[in-house]
Parts: sequence; C-alpha cells; structure tokens
Amino acid sequence: MAHVPSNIILLLFLLVSFHVNVIAEEDEANIIKPGSSLYAGKQPSSWASPSGNFEFGFYRQGEGYAAGIWLVGRPENTIVWTAKRDDPPVSSNATLEFTRQGVLLLRTEDGVGNVIANLSGVQFVDSASLLDTGNLVLYENRSVVWESFDIPTDTILGCQNLSLDSELISSVSSSNHSTGHYHLLLKSDGLVANLNISSAAAYEYWVSPNGFSSPVLNLNESGVLALSSSQNFDQENVLANGSTTGNETMIIYRATLDHDGVFRLYSHQLESNTMSNKWQNLDDECEVPGRCGLNSYCSTSRGNDTECYCYPGFIFIDENAKFLGCSQNFTVDGCETKRDVVIHHNSTTLDNMSWAGNLYSVKRNLEREDCKKACEDDCSCGGALYTPNHCSMYSLPLKYGRKHVSITTTAFIKLIPGRSTISPPPETSPNQSLILTMGLSLGSVASLCFVIAICSFLLYRHRVQSYEKLLDSKSSGFAEQFTLRSFTLNELDEATQGFQDELGKGSFGAVYKGTLPGDGKSIAVKRLGMVKEGERDQFRTEMTAIGRNNHRNLVRLLGFCVEGSRKFLVYEYMSNGSLADFLFNRNERPVWKQRARIALDVAKGILYLHEECEVSIIHCNIKPCNILLDDSLTAKISDFGLAKLLRPNQRSSTSGTAWYPAPEWQNSALLSVKVDVYSFGVILLEIICCRRNIEVEGRSADEILLSTFVYNCFVGGELNKLVEGEEEVDMKMVERFVKVGLWCIQDDPNLRPLVKNVILMLEGTMNVPIPPSPSLPHVTN
Ligand SMILES: *[C@@H]1O[C@H](CO)[C@@H](O)[C@H](O)[C@H]1NC(C)=O
Ligand SMILES: *[C@@H]1O[C@H](CO)[C@@H](O)[C@H](O)[C@H]1NC(C)=O
Ligand SMILES: *[C@@H]1O[C@H](CO)[C@@H](O)[C@H](O)[C@H]1NC(C)=O
Ligand SMILES: *[C@@H]1O[C@H](CO)[C@@H](O)[C@H](O)[C@H]1NC(C)=O
Ligand SMILES: *[C@@H]1O[C@H](CO)[C@@H](O)[C@H](O)[C@H]1NC(C)=O
Ligand SMILES: *[C@@H]1O[C@H](CO)[C@@H](O)[C@H](O)[C@H]1NC(C)=O
Ligand SMILES: *[C@@H]1O[C@H](CO)[C@@H](O)[C@H](O)[C@H]1NC(C)=O
Ligand SMILES: *[C@@H]1O[C@H](CO)[C@@H](O)[C@H](O)[C@H]1NC(C)=O
Ligand SMILES: *[C@@H]1O[C@H](CO)[C@@H](O)[C@H](O)[C@H]1NC(C)=O
Ligand SMILES: *[C@@H]1O[C@H](CO)[C@@H](O)[C@H](O)[C@H]1NC(C)=O
Ligand SMILES: *[C@@H]1O[C@H](CO)[C@@H](O)[C@H](O)[C@H]1NC(C)=O
Ligand SMILES: *[C@@H]1O[C@H](CO)[C@@H](O)[C@H](O)[C@H]1NC(C)=O
Repeated sequence: MAHVPSNIILLLFLLVSFHVNVIAEEDEANIIKPGSSLYAGKQPSSWASPSGNFEFGFYRQGEGYAAGIWLVGRPENTIVWTAKRDDPPVSSNATLEFTRQGVLLLRTEDGVGNVIANLSGVQFVDSASLLDTGNLVLYENRSVVWESFDIPTDTILGCQNLSLDSELISSVSSSNHSTGHYHLLLKSDGLVANLNISSAAAYEYWVSPNGFSSPVLNLNESGVLALSSSQNFDQENVLANGSTTGNETMIIYRATLDHDGVFRLYSHQLESNTMSNKWQNLDDECEVPGRCGLNSYCSTSRGNDTECYCYPGFIFIDENAKFLGCSQNFTVDGCETKRDVVIHHNSTTLDNMSWAGNLYSVKRNLEREDCKKACEDDCSCGGALYTPNHCSMYSLPLKYGRKHVSITTTAFIKLIPGRSTISPPPETSPNQSLILTMGLSLGSVASLCFVIAICSFLLYRHRVQSYEKLLDSKSSGFAEQFTLRSFTLNELDEATQGFQDELGKGSFGAVYKGTLPGDGKSIAVKRLGMVKEGERDQFRTEMTAIGRNNHRNLVRLLGFCVEGSRKFLVYEYMSNGSLADFLFNRNERPVWKQRARIALDVAKGILYLHEECEVSIIHCNIKPCNILLDDSLTAKISDFGLAKLLRPNQRSSTSGTAWYPAPEWQNSALLSVKVDVYSFGVILLEIICCRRNIEVEGRSADEILLSTFVYNCFVGGELNKLVEGEEEVDMKMVERFVKVGLWCIQDDPNLRPLVKNVILMLEGTMNVPIPPSPSLPHVTN
C-alpha cells in the first residue's frame, strides 16, 4: 500500500507530460494514443473534441462519477452519452484507460476493469478520437472500428443515425442517466414510443407518421430530423426541421428522448450560449403514460402546463411531488369489513377521462346510470369507465389517468363514505389534438388472445343453398334454452359482418365475434376443420350431444353450421377473454381471491363433464387459453367434446397433442378422466403462481418447470415465494391448493385424485395428504 502514492505521482507525471506533448503537436491534438488515461478525481478528467464543444471523460453522477460524453456548457453541460449507464457511479479513484491493446477500459477504485469498447477480432486499434460531432471513435490504421454513435443512450446528435431495430431509452431523471422506462424504437413501420416497465408489456403512446419499409432515423447537421429509406437516402419523411434562418452560425442539434418520455429536438446556439426546444413529438405531454402516479390523472389545464390531480377522495402522497400520485385516506373498504351491513356508496363523475389498471370486468348494454351503480355496488370496483354500451370496471389503483376534451369516456370514481372530497377537476383546454386513450387500448388488450378458433371466411364457390335443420325448424328462437340451433353460412356471415372481427386463433382456426340479429346477443363463431362427406350426420349427432350440456362453468354452445365441407360452432361470447390473458398478460397479478374462485370454477366445470352430464366427456385438452371468463369473471371451459369428435387418426394432424399432456398421453388406450385431472393440476399451479408452466427467460434451471419450482418451494417451506409481493393472501389456502395441484400432476394416473375429491380438497372439506414428488418414480414400501 505504501508504494501507491508514488505510482500515482509517476502516473501524474506521465500524464502531464503526455498532455503537454499532445498539445505541442497541433495536428495530433485530438488523437488519443493507446496507453493514455483519464481520472475521475483529478486532471486530466476528460478529452475534448478539436472544437472544444464536446468532451469525453468523467462527469459527476450522484455521489460519484460516470463516464460519458457531454456538450460543453451551452448553457450548462448536457450529457449526450454515457458508458455502461446502469453501472453504479464510480469513486474519485476510478480511471478510464485506453490500453495498449486498444481496449477502452473503465477501472473502478478497486481495480476492476469494465470494458467500454472491446474489439475482439480487431488486431491493431492504434488511436481514438472524440470528433466535433460528439462521436467517440476508435481507429485501426485510420479506419473506424468502433464508435459511440452506434450505441446511443437517450440522444442522437447532428450527423447521427438510429438504425432499424435500435432504440433510444430515456434516462431516469435529468440528473440520473441510468436507463429509464421510456423507449423510442425504430421499427420497420416507423418510430414507436412506449413505456416499458416489465418485460411482458409495453404501452405504446406515440407512433411516427409512417415512413419506409426499412427506415433510418437521421438528424443532420442543419437540424432536420427525418426518417429516410435505408435503401434510398433521397426518400425522406421530415419529422422536424430545427434549422433557423437567423445569422447564428454555430448551432449544435440534438434529439433526446427525455426522462419524461417526450422526444424533443433541441438546438444549442453556441455564440449566444442559449438552448431552445425546436420540436417535440407530443403536443400534450399528458399523453405520456406514467406522467402522473397511481390514482392521479394528468391534465393540461392552464396554458401548456401539465399537472397531476388526485381523483376525488384521494390525497397526494406528497404535496410537493404531485407526480408521485395519490392514495386514499382510508385503508379499509367498508364493504370488506362490514359484510352484513349494506353500505350505499356514492361516486363522482368525471367526464373526458381515460385510465388503465386492473380491468376486471366489462359489462355490455348498460345504461350510464347502471354502470355507475354497478361499480358502487361492487366491492372490488374502484372506478368505472363508461362509453355507451360498454362499462369497464377497474379495481384500485388506477394508473395512467388522463383528462382531455378529445376523450369521450366518462369515469365514475367510487367514494368511500367519510372520505373527503377534494378540489373539483380542472377544465381541459379545448384546443388540443387527439390522442391515444390509454385506458381503452389497455382494455382491449385484456380481451385479446381470446379463445378458440374460427374460420376465415374464404369464398366458396359452390355454396350449398339448402341446409337441414337439426332440430325442429320452428326452434329458431335463441332464447330457447336447451335447443341447439343450426345456422346457415349466410346467417353467420351476416352476424359476423363477413367474419371481420377476429377474436383470436386457437388450435383449430380463427374465432370471430358476431352479433345475432334477433336479440343483439354477442356470439363467438369458431371454425372447425373440414368435414368429409359422410361425416356430417355424425357431426350433427355429436354436436347435439354436446349442446345438451349446460353448466355454469361451461361455455354455452348455441348452435352450429355445417355447409359444404365447412363447419362452425357458435358459442356465447365471453367478454373477459381467456384465463391465459387474465393470468399472464397483465401488468398486475389478479388478486388471490379471484384466482381461487376461478380454480374452483374450472374444477366444477370438469366435474360436470366427467360425472354429471349424460355421457361422460373427457376434454383431453384443457388449457388456460380455452378457459374463458365472462362479465363477472366466472370461468367457463370451452372446446369440450371436440377431442372426441376428432377420430384417433386425426388427433395428431388436426388438433396437435394436448397442451399439458399427461405422461400416458402417448398411449391412447390408457386415456381416462385422469388426463383432465393432470391438465387441471398444471393449470392450478399456474393460477397460484400467475406464471406459465414453462418459463425459460430469467429463470434458473430449477425454476424453469413450474412443477419442480412449486414442489421445491413446498418441500422447503417457502410457499410465500409463489405469491411474492401479493397482499391479502390466505397462506393456508395456498398450501392446500399447492398440495392438491401436486397430487393432480402425479405421473401415475392412479395417484391422481378424481375431480370430485379435488373440489372437496380445494374447499377444505377433505384433508389433503402430503403429496410425493410429482415426477419421481414412486416407491412402494
Ligand atoms: C439512478 O437511478 C437508478 C434506477 O432508479 C438507481 O438504481 C440509481 O441508484 C440512481 N443513481 C443515482 C446516482 O442516484
Ligand atoms: C482512493 O485511494 C486512496 C489510496 O488508496 C484511498 O486512501 C482513498 O480512500 C480512496 N478513495 C476512495 C473514494 O475510494
Ligand atoms: C474482449 O473480448 C474477447 C472476446 O470476446 C475476450 O476474450 C477478451 O477477454 C475481452 N477483453 C477484455 C479486456 O475484456
Ligand atoms: C493495420 O496495420 C497493420 C500493421 O501495419 C497490418 O498488419 C494490418 O493488416 C492493418 N490492418 C488493416 C485492417 O489494414
Ligand atoms: C422492454 O425493454 C427491454 C430492454 O430493452 C426488452 O428486452 C423487452 O423486450 C422490452 N419489453 C417489451 C414488451 O417491449
Ligand atoms: C445516415 O443517414 C443519412 C440519410 O438519412 C445518410 O446520408 C448517411 O450516410 C447515414 N450515415 C451513416 C453513418 O450511416
Ligand atoms: C439536411 O436535410 C435537409 C432535408 O433533406 C436538407 O435540405 C439539408 O441540406 C441537409 N443539411 C445538411 C447539412 O446536409
Ligand atoms: C427548414 O427550415 C429552413 C428555415 O425555416 C428552410 O430554409 C428549409 O428549407 C427547411 N428545410 C426543410 C427540409 O424543410
Ligand atoms: C445577427 O444579426 C443581428 C441583427 O440582425 C446582429 O445584431 C447580430 O450581431 C448578428 N450576429 C452575428 C453573430 O452575426
Ligand atoms: C403552448 O404551446 C404552443 C406550441 O407549442 C405555443 O405556441 C404556445 O405559445 C404555448 N402556450 C403557452 C401558454 O405556453
Ligand atoms: C386523513 O385522515 C386523517 C385521520 O383520519 C385525518 O386527520 C386527515 O385530516 C385526513 N386527511 C384528509 C385530507 O382527509
Ligand atoms: C350520496 O349522495 C347523495 C346526493 O349527493 C347524498 O344525499 C347522500 O347522502 C350520499 N350518500 C352517502 C353515503 O354519502
């Protein structure tokens, strides 16, 4: 340790002499030679570009330093690039070394080297230079082998291009240049800005006017920001023109995705030392989701100022930092605690609102007042958004709230008795342009990946004009509960308006949304594979058998259509999408109580199929994608009876294998109701953990397979890991559910319980023994 100071002195001496040398040779002034270093806590701490406008080196970040490039003092230093931006700040003892091997190294105080530019494969990196454009480049024999322009952080400068599939990512704040949450991606159909908090979901809030099939984003020296075709630079689509006609000659332009999510073009006038904002992608900055925190909304009420406001009944978490959001002055909702007392909730109405959050129910065909009442009467409801015929109910917290005249949705915020009402909502300025209604688009995301599959309606030349009705032809009323209707292709074409609204694709084909002309009932029309001549009668017979099954936890089959070689099934429409969406495609986990109820619903649906309907039905392919949720989040199984329809030799070609195949699936002779119990077990574990059976990304080896992960947690007494971060979870119940799940996925079908016992165990009426490991060979005695 004692010899360290002498080293430093030696280095200092070397550097000073190096510096002097460099300055002495005018031509070489900005060529950085291998072997040179920079120091965070002492001089030299940076290298300058020839003009002196840009510098590369250490700048202050928090308590320490970060390494990067900045535009010098116009009016103050502007950081335009940071190396290793997510590494913690380094201390004053850190160094930047351009080693003799041509590696640019950031060395922390304890000597750990962190490579900024590693040029494996390049043999003779012989110099580096910070150009007047702000680009740091490394050369091999005078040709560029690495440049900082290729790896932008949140900024592009004049002369810099953003290439296809690259992105700018905002900084955390104006003083913290680590990676923030806003992304600006150059995709093949243009520039897209999104908020990306979890790897699962990104909320797009801006898309550039369309560009070219494979575009490049370019900011040129005269401040023109344009998308151009990478094939032909003459074709371009100017996004912004920052050039000024004035006599100011020295201007540096930069385009930055700022920490607030707005993409802005700035010009820095070097002579007058001023900076101005020439353009930004959003007129109304409230369009950026997350501008205001939870339970608050953004509005541009006065002039162009955006401001955050609490919803009525909420107060700011911090009056001095309103963007942090709001909270209720109440922690307990009256209706949770006083179950027997009827509490009349009131709600406040806010017009022109949109938000996002935990959308748990969409009710259709409700009047405005009924929507308001539906929310007031529902314990889970924190607020509802209403558009004619569409009532979307959200539980708290509400996020990405926004109020703007262009939004046509009306919001109802439930008031808890005793809560104080806060200041009235502001008026929005009338002259703002239109936008994304965040809440609505998220709502439709939730109802996406809809189920099953239905048909693309290809024109079929030889339309079979006549059709036979399966049942009495008078039974055309849809109201008739247990009658299956036979539809014509024309009728379905009309009901779905030419098969336009595709809800999703399933294992059989597409599923389309439609409306029955008679009573306006929403339906889902699903296309099945082709029927062969001679199979039609059989199809009808089987459909009739399926149609007789009617249970709260089965999706109701309303009718079917066989015409020519095509066949369709018509189901009731489930407004809340599939269980897969519900569990995996949301930002927040659905609450435990809802999940537990859904698990029981699914088990009851299976029980009906196995034991309660006329002919026992083995579903064979129960999966989160064909379990659907209705208005009130009741789970209903769909696609039942279809596996049976497909002859054994068809199974592999038409429907593939089961989603969660039980081990005995290979041998169809052994297939029993226990196949469904196996699938249920996997789904139960998925419901408990809100993750898919197999997840590779970000998982360690023993976490990839859910069953192994759950079993390990169970054996290790760490069940809380499965519901980490959740509130209001009944751990006893979780343990019971986990044990049941592990019994259901035993390799040996004989060990799996019957579904009626599954239900008794889930409900807690029957004791659940300790399950063995699901996949280990079971040793008897
Ligand atoms: C910058 O923000 C990141 C992410 O929020 C945080 O981890 C880091 O500590 C912050 N750095 C400083 C210097 O405040
Ligand atoms: C820098 O190094 C010196 C000498 O090793 C040491 O005394 C000092 O504490 C270090 N400073 C920091 C901030 O690590
Ligand atoms: C640079 O990359 C090469 C190949 O990836 C690696 O072998 C070498 O160790 C790296 N150099 C440094 C200093 O990390
Ligand atoms: C660079 O120069 C070295 C030595 O003169 C030579 O061996 C090498 O091939 C050159 N590399 C390139 C890419 O020209
Ligand atoms: C969010 O950003 C990360 C890092 O850029 C990326 O890997 C991930 O795919 C993004 N998520 C989405 C949904 O775009
Ligand atoms: C950047 O794009 C412009 C056209 O937009 C093109 O003229 C220029 O050559 C590109 N520069 C680089 C380094 O690719
Ligand atoms: C920048 O782009 C605009 C539009 O293509 C063009 O008119 C202008 O000459 C360019 N400026 C420079 C310095 O290339
Ligand atoms: C940009 O604006 C300047 C000054 O207003 C004008 O002279 C120039 O033609 C414009 N360039 C483009 C590409 O629109
Ligand atoms: C720019 O023009 C204004 C008058 O139009 C003059 O006062 C100013 O000195 C000029 N600036 C430069 C840098 O020429
Ligand atoms: C609002 O912004 C517009 C254009 O960005 C500008 O013309 C107007 O002066 C601004 N109004 C206020 C009050 O800042
Ligand atoms: C919040 O509740 C506390 C205690 O009930 C009360 O003292 C306070 O005034 C309330 N604040 C508001 C803004 O209602
Ligand atoms: C609800 O609002 C009505 C009308 O403003 C009022 O008469 C009633 O007392 C309120 N009820 C509660 C529980 O606050």
